[in-house]
Amino acid sequence: MEWIKIFSNTVEAREKLLSGKPRLLVVYGRRITLVHYGDDFYAVQDACTHNQESLSKGHVNHLGEIICPWHNYRFELKTGRAMDSSCRALATYPIKTDETGFFIGI
Ligand code: FES
Repeated sequence: MEWIKIFSNTVEAREKLLSGKPRLLVVYGRRITLVHYGDDFYAVQDACTHNQESLSKGHVNHLGEIICPWHNYRFELKTGRAMDSSCRALATYPIKTDETGFFIGI
């Protein structure tokens, strides 16, 4: 796994990612949805496993699930698990922060 620096620190990440508002990140051509929810940050594949809609156009509910904008299927941000369908789980990506920056693991 390679750690890619995407922000200078957590403060910058919180400024750039509004809480509960998914944002698209493209790293090495890979489309990833980044979410700041509560005190945590999550990264999941952007393509919904139902029919490939972009989850970064969706929204996050009060349970910490990302909702696909097309057919409203729900996926748990923490695990990527499909919550109300038999769709495959989303790929998830780890996030870490240290004194040198805010990183996503690819
Ligand atoms: S494409 Fe995402 S729920 Fe159908």
